Amino acid sequence: MSRVRVVDLGTPARLGVQVAVVVDGLPVSVPAGTSVMRAAATAGVDIPRLCATDSLEPFGSCRLCLVEVEGRPGTPASCTTPCTPGMTVRTQSPRLEKLRRGVMELYISDHPLDCLTCPANGDCELQDMAGVVGLREVRYGLDGANHLDGATDDSNPYFSFDDSKCIACSRCVRACGEVQGTFALTIAGRGFDSRVSASAGESFMGSECVSCGACVQACPTSTLQEKTVIELGVPTRSVKTTCAYCGVGCSFVAELRGDEVVRMVPDKDGGANAGHSCVKGRFAWGYATHRDRQLEPMVRERITDPWRVVSWDEAIAHAGDGLKAIQAEHGVGAIGGITSSRCTNEEVYVVQKMIRAAFGNNNVDTCARVCHSPTGYGLKQTFGTSAGTQDFESVMHADVVVVIGANPTDGHPVFASRLKRRLRAGAQLVVIDPRRIDLVRSPHVEAAEHLQLQPGTNVAIVNALAHVVVTEGFVDRAFVAERCEADSFAEWESFIALPENSPEATAEITGVPADAVRRAARLYATAGNAAIYYGLGVTEHSQGSTMVMGMANLAMATGNIGRVGVGVNPLRGQNNVQGSCDMGSFPHELPGYRHVSDAGVRGIFEAVWGTTIDPEPGLRIPNMFDAAIAGRYLGMFIQGEDIAQSDPNVAHVKAALGSLELLVVQDLFLNETAKFAHVFLPGTSFLEKDGTFTNAERRINRVRPVMAPKSGRQEWQVACELATAMGYPMDYANAAEIMDEIAATTPTFAGVSFERLDAEGSVQWPCNDAAPHGTPIMHVDGFVRGKGHFVDTPFVPTDERTNRKFPLILTTGRILSQYNVGAQTRRTPNVQWHHEDVVEIHVHDAETRGIHTGDSVTITSRVGETVLRAKVSDRMPQGVVYTTFHYPGSGANVVTTEYSDWATNCPEYKVTAVELAPTSRAPVTEAEMRAEHQPVAGRP
Ligand code: SF4
Ligand code: SF4
Ligand code: SF4
Ligand code: FES
Repeated sequence: MSRVRVVDLGTPARLGVQVAVVVDGLPVSVPAGTSVMRAAATAGVDIPRLCATDSLEPFGSCRLCLVEVEGRPGTPASCTTPCTPGMTVRTQSPRLEKLRRGVMELYISDHPLDCLTCPANGDCELQDMAGVVGLREVRYGLDGANHLDGATDDSNPYFSFDDSKCIACSRCVRACGEVQGTFALTIAGRGFDSRVSASAGESFMGSECVSCGACVQACPTSTLQEKTVIELGVPTRSVKTTCAYCGVGCSFVAELRGDEVVRMVPDKDGGANAGHSCVKGRFAWGYATHRDRQLEPMVRERITDPWRVVSWDEAIAHAGDGLKAIQAEHGVGAIGGITSSRCTNEEVYVVQKMIRAAFGNNNVDTCARVCHSPTGYGLKQTFGTSAGTQDFESVMHADVVVVIGANPTDGHPVFASRLKRRLRAGAQLVVIDPRRIDLVRSPHVEAAEHLQLQPGTNVAIVNALAHVVVTEGFVDRAFVAERCEADSFAEWESFIALPENSPEATAEITGVPADAVRRAARLYATAGNAAIYYGLGVTEHSQGSTMVMGMANLAMATGNIGRVGVGVNPLRGQNNVQGSCDMGSFPHELPGYRHVSDAGVRGIFEAVWGTTIDPEPGLRIPNMFDAAIAGRYLGMFIQGEDIAQSDPNVAHVKAALGSLELLVVQDLFLNETAKFAHVFLPGTSFLEKDGTFTNAERRINRVRPVMAPKSGRQEWQVACELATAMGYPMDYANAAEIMDEIAATTPTFAGVSFERLDAEGSVQWPCNDAAPHGTPIMHVDGFVRGKGHFVDTPFVPTDERTNRKFPLILTTGRILSQYNVGAQTRRTPNVQWHHEDVVEIHVHDAETRGIHTGDSVTITSRVGETVLRAKVSDRMPQGVVYTTFHYPGSGANVVTTEYSDWATNCPEYKVTAVELAPTSRAPVTEAEMRAEHQPVAGRP
């Protein structure tokens, strides 16, 4: 595809009754409030402009967009002039042309005349507009006062700011505020001295800037410019694809020169992101071509041997023979595999099919086990389907938003920007989190309530909120009577009204004052539209599933479900965690969340796959580990997951991996898990993949290859070859054929095809005959299960308790610049923001232990010990410490326990009793971790 030319109508769309106007003799009808500029563009007439763009509110500063309006004096700016009925507009006249040339002449007289060597040559709106207005000469010399000696700020690793090229149009300032919501930029000074300034005259890196790149995208000149464009030149072709980091699932236009990515531009048509992005998706893609990538298959007999590079055929034969030999000796169930939420739906589908059809068992699980499996369970029990209820756009219609156990500005930044936009427009916010996350107070955003609860007490809080709803008369009786089960509601109502669930009774458990809980409950129940958004701070608990059902109860009782602006919405972690669950990655479920014991469902797949499927559920990940240590489970295929870093109680995980006779790892890098592997199969980055990802709003987005697989194989081809080597021939012509098979076997995907996705951009499942264009909002006319089901949710404290030896609670989370185990982001300049994991501690807890910011401290739990650097932080409540787990050396999961959710075994990452103490030991560095890898034979 040649480069995508982005259509820009100049100012944002408006909603309103249609008004008819005439532009240059062309009749056009637009919603009331639409600018003359946008109306003209709609009629196919482009008015010259510099300070206007349709992603920002009009500003009216450049005066290039002047027009004449019949019956009105002067020449108003078309970007700030709304259409009125019957208006007749002229966009071209000798007077307008002269005025525009004069404006342009002034701009150019204060601009470096280096177009031919400028990195934006050919991609610069100032250059374009000079041509459009017909500027031929500049009468003013460059010897008067000008800004040509303006300094360049190169502090940001991804973009530079060249002040000499700035035309003070303020698009960057407005993008940072309106689109991103960070407000890091201002225009300092007045008149001629007006200059863009990051914070109070800081460098970009020294300011609050979060490097989202919205300002760079908005800049009409080369003032704010990607460094890759400066180095490589203006792109020549582009491919639309999807970010491979988080569950927001932002769409991007990858812009290339030849095979080299020059920049990633967020797609304005992207259903999830509407033209915005965060630092990871826009800038942190360099890992895909990092020298650390292992591009050739390798094998070794023992994990202490050096690796031996082999052909694909040899690697596949080695893996297939080894797995078959284990089954021959130890039984069909002695092997299994783990699918990856980083991979496409098609890749995941093929791996679970390989396990079910070629391995002959259901020993397949996915990393969602350790994050959102309680979401699947809890929402299925109450609503009937394992997915969030809304699209992201829905939040723009919420009056009250409750964020529970999530930190969207770090974990789901593009959703956070949208949410902040809504909050600035007047919606109220309740944050339920032990830590003071950014949303509690940030520029132009302040939570109405922050319920700073003790980790592990979510269920007590949600019960207390529901208690207020029931006992203070806030139940939406009409909704409950029409949409929910009468019996389960009646039982739940009696349960939740018990005095033990009152805010006063639970205050001692949660640490949250009762009046704050009452205020929050009243706010939620009386909002009009109230929406819940939640993250792993809900699910990664021993009562994770209970909490999900508690939130669902609350939403049903108040009628906040089944329409726009409300709902219960998981903020999914990884890019395709929704998809990997949809694709049948759980040991008890075939694609579409249908139980393996259901003969009818098995029959559908057996007919298409030409084999029989075991009706017994297989092993979950923790059971795989236990069986490995017990000597009953000896062979494993792990697709793109670093479980030796990401799973809890790492010592136990490593013991299990070390017990395997054959571990096959498919990944981009030799990670911590690969230290235990016997076969390494190179994977593909998102820039090479062909398929689909499904984001947190059930949106199926296309992932298109921008380059050929560097290893020579798509990952689905590798799974097919391994299945074939094991005696089950499997083959597809392309990824589209795999999606066709998914659609043929899975009712919620029945209408999905690459063709439809290419035509519509994306669709949200269910997509079938009943909803051919997908389903943005679920449970509109009825719940998927029929009537909404209430579940009693008694609070049961976790077994993980503090005591004198372990008096603090450790909880974990993410940071904006890094992602998950950091395998990708650690291999990008994002390390400049976060180069090691630190443990945050309350000032009082630090003082009593003699700990200062920057000190090395040991973190000791009942299962392990690690060393991190400390950061004294006022975000933490007393008694709670917090860390991230982006670096393998930090070993955050060395200390997390094996306690897990009662229903799904999702680990209780968020509650670990620990003690901290100063130490002279230094944290383990990444280089030290890498040095533990066995060398590749024949390589220095
Ligand atoms: S990169 Fe984003 S946060 Fe930073 S100044 Fe630009 S718009 Fe603001
Ligand atoms: S940096 Fe770019 S967007 Fe910002 S004021 Fe200058 S020219 Fe306009
Ligand atoms: S990491 Fe998430 S929010 Fe950031 S660009 Fe990618 S999908 Fe969007
Ligand atoms: S585009 Fe209208 S004043 Fe700048």
